[in-house]
Amino acid sequence: MSVNKKLLILAGDGIGPEVMGEVRRVIGWMAAKRSVSFDVDEGLVGGAAYDAHGTALSDETLADAMAVDAVLLGAVGGPKWDNVAREHRPEAGLLGLRKEMDLYANLRPALVFDALAEASSLKTELVRGLDILIVRELTGGVYFGEPRGIETLADGTKRGIDTQVYTSPEIERVARVAFELARKRGNKVHSVEKANVMETGVLWREVVGKLHAADYADVTLENMYADNCAMQLVRNPKQFDVMVTDNLFGDILSDCAAMLTGSLGMLPSASLGGEDESGRRKALYEPVHGSAPDIAGEGSANPLACILSFAMCLRYSFDMGEDADLIETAVQNVLAGGLRTGDIMQDGKARVSTTGMGEAITMELDKLTG
Ligand code: IPM
Ligand code: MG
Repeated sequence: MSVNKKLLILAGDGIGPEVMGEVRRVIGWMAAKRSVSFDVDEGLVGGAAYDAHGTALSDETLADAMAVDAVLLGAVGGPKWDNVAREHRPEAGLLGLRKEMDLYANLRPALVFDALAEASSLKTELVRGLDILIVRELTGGVYFGEPRGIETLADGTKRGIDTQVYTSPEIERVARVAFELARKRGNKVHSVEKANVMETGVLWREVVGKLHAADYADVTLENMYADNCAMQLVRNPKQFDVMVTDNLFGDILSDCAAMLTGSLGMLPSASLGGEDESGRRKALYEPVHGSAPDIAGEGSANPLACILSFAMCLRYSFDMGEDADLIETAVQNVLAGGLRTGDIMQDGKARVSTTGMGEAITMELDKLTG
C-alpha cells in the first residue's frame, strides 16, 4: 500500500466537520478496497481555530498546509464570530490560506446531475446536461488590493476604500489555466470583465487576447461584460464552457452558476497554485457551499459537494482520474436511485441524513467495483 499521499484536513466550522466526516468514510473505503491510503493530518481553521488559538489560521496550520500534497477544507464562518475583528474573522483564515499558498486558480465546475435537473430554479430544458467550468482568479483583485480601510475625514464623515488591482502576470497565469482546461473540454473560453468601466477590465481583455493569439488560437475566445454574463447565465447557460474571470466577479458568478444546478450543496471546487520544479501544484479543495450554521449539528447537511471536492483532489493532485470518475459515478447513481438530503429533496424521493448519504456512496462504490 503506497502511503506517500499527504493530506491535511481542515474541517472548519458549522457543517464542515459533518460533511468532512463523509469524506473520511470515502478515504477509508479507498484504503480498504482500493489499497490506496493517504497520510491524513488534521488541523483547525476559521472560527474553530479562533476559539482555540485566537487566530483563524495559526502559523503551524499554515506550515502544515504548505507541506502537504493537498488540503481538504470543509467550511468557515458563522454568526458566533460576527463581532470579531476582520483580521481574526473565520473568512480571514480561508483568505490567508489562499494568499499564502498562492492558490491563484479556483476551479468551480457547475454540473447538472441528470437526476437533479428538475431541482433547478430554471426550466429543466435550459439546464439538463449543463457543464460549465468557472475559473476564478483567487489571490488578487479587490479581495487583497491596497489601500483599503475605513477612514474618518476632517469633517467627521467616513470613507471606505477598496482597491481593485491586477498585474499582467496575474491575469496571464489564470487565463492560461482556463485555456488549458478548455482544450480538454468544449474548447471555448469566455473571458469576463467590465472593460467598459474599469481599467483592470481593459488590461484583463488585452492580456487574455494576447495570450490567446500567441498560444491558444485553436480555442474559441469570447469577451463578455460581467453584467451581461450574469444575465446570460440565467438566460442560456449552456452557451458557456469555460469562463475565466477576476476574484470578485468569480465569487458572484459562481454562486449564480451553482444555483442553476439545483443546490449549492452539490458543488465542489479546487484551488490550485503554480507548478514547482517537480511539476507539483499546491492545492486546496473545498465545497462551494458555506458553513450553514442554521443546520449545523443536525446531521442533515449534504456531504456530496465535499465528497466531489475529494474527487477533484484525486484528479488534480494525484492524477487518479479513474478513482475520481468512480466517485462521480457513485454520486450520480445514488441520486438516480432516489436518495436525497434535505437541500435537494424532491417529491417521491427518500430523504437521508448526512451519514446516510455517505454510507450510500460507499455502498455504491462497492457495487461499482465488486
Ligand atoms: C467563496 C466564499 C468566500 C469568498 C468567503 C467565505 C470569504 O464566498 O469561496 O466563494 O468570498 O471568496
Ligand atoms: Mg462566494
